[in-house]
Amino acid sequence: MDKIVVYGGQPLAGDVSISGAKNAALPILAAALLTAKPCTFSNIPDLMDIKTIKKLLASMGVRFSGDRTLEVCAETITSSVAPYDLVKTMRASILVLGPLVARTGRARVSLPGGCAIGARPVNLHIKALQDMGAKVDLREGYIEATAGRLKGAEIYFDLPTVTGTENIMMAAALADGVTVLHNAAREPEIVNLADVLKGMGAKISGAGSDVITITGVTSLSGTEAAIIPDRIEAGTFMIAAGMTGGEINVRGCIPQHLEALTNKLRDTGMTIEPIDDGLKVKAAPKIHSVDIKTLPYPGFPTDLQAQMMAYMTIASGLSVISETVFENRFMHVSELARMGADIAIQGGSAVVRGVPKLFGAPTMATDLRASASLILAGLVAQGATEISRVYHLDRGYEGIEKKFSALGAKMKRITS
Ligand code: UD1
Repeated sequence: MDKIVVYGGQPLAGDVSISGAKNAALPILAAALLTAKPCTFSNIPDLMDIKTIKKLLASMGVRFSGDRTLEVCAETITSSVAPYDLVKTMRASILVLGPLVARTGRARVSLPGGCAIGARPVNLHIKALQDMGAKVDLREGYIEATAGRLKGAEIYFDLPTVTGTENIMMAAALADGVTVLHNAAREPEIVNLADVLKGMGAKISGAGSDVITITGVTSLSGTEAAIIPDRIEAGTFMIAAGMTGGEINVRGCIPQHLEALTNKLRDTGMTIEPIDDGLKVKAAPKIHSVDIKTLPYPGFPTDLQAQMMAYMTIASGLSVISETVFENRFMHVSELARMGADIAIQGGSAVVRGVPKLFGAPTMATDLRASASLILAGLVAQGATEISRVYHLDRGYEGIEKKFSALGAKMKRITS
């Protein structure tokens, strides 16, 4: 298993280009299951999770050509099964459920089970499909869904679930009649997916708001579309610039997608200004503490909570970080503490007392964003920080050590 070693103390400087968003590319590739015609998607990031979904789709008969710009064709679907082996490595495999049921009338998808950041059930995906007339059984750890043509329905999500909204939006695109998703998630990745579906001929309005209306059609065509930039990758580099006393240009990001973060970073004293193709980000002379509460978009993203916590470990006061989206998403706390951070967990919150310095230590990545927080802590720690289990990072950050090294960080990968 690869390791990354970071030697702290270099302020970041220069330009970084943001890759395509993992969380947009995954549902958009799954959407190709909805049509027999070829689709072409550009700005596909080079990530482990993309390889995983391609492997999953290929096992269903989907053909691919290209790389960054990928042609995807699901002319014939040869299998409607998403096996445990693939789903356990990537929960987002659940995104094939809606498209498979809508296109083939059946799906057998492994239940994702628990993961490092909480129980993460898929009950809302299942309930919505049932509301649309699917028969769903849970058997031997699998979701087994069958349906004739799905029927449009009024769906009320108990919580704004991102992949749940995406799954049901895809299913409803081929359903009979009108589906209205109430309390839908509003993330930019959902808007990207809706635009792709519309390009395929789907009738969708309201994506980006909490009510999405989909009028089903009988078939969809091919399309060409680009994946939006990854706001979480962009946010990770912005926080890194702030932590290291740096000044960088984050190129290719969409500033509106980053507003919750940008506002918080300005409150810490950072200067953030728009440039032609992104944001210029400059560290604060003195880092002020801020409180954070994670929320569904447009609130502060849970996927930046761990990175923001790393930042607050070296701020000038006390910060309360409340995690409201996922229980148990504080796995990074004990690792940051091993580097000298002063953090106490109180229920769903972490109380972070800024310290003057962090110290390099051997650490272990526990999930994707927790790993990123350890890289950030390593960038400012005195001495060397070793981050093992780097495969978590490779799931969601493209060439992370290359991008940081190009900004002046001292970082290397040790391949074993
Ligand atoms: C997506 C993102 C992930 C991000 C998360 C929250 C992708 C591929 N992943 O994950 O990076 O951290 O949104 O922004 O886009 N819930 C239920 N029942 C369900 C579904 C969800 O109770 O059927 C709960 C979850 O446990 C969680 C909350 O709803 O507490 C939100 O989760 P959800 O938005 O579904 O997260 P994901 O779509 O899995």
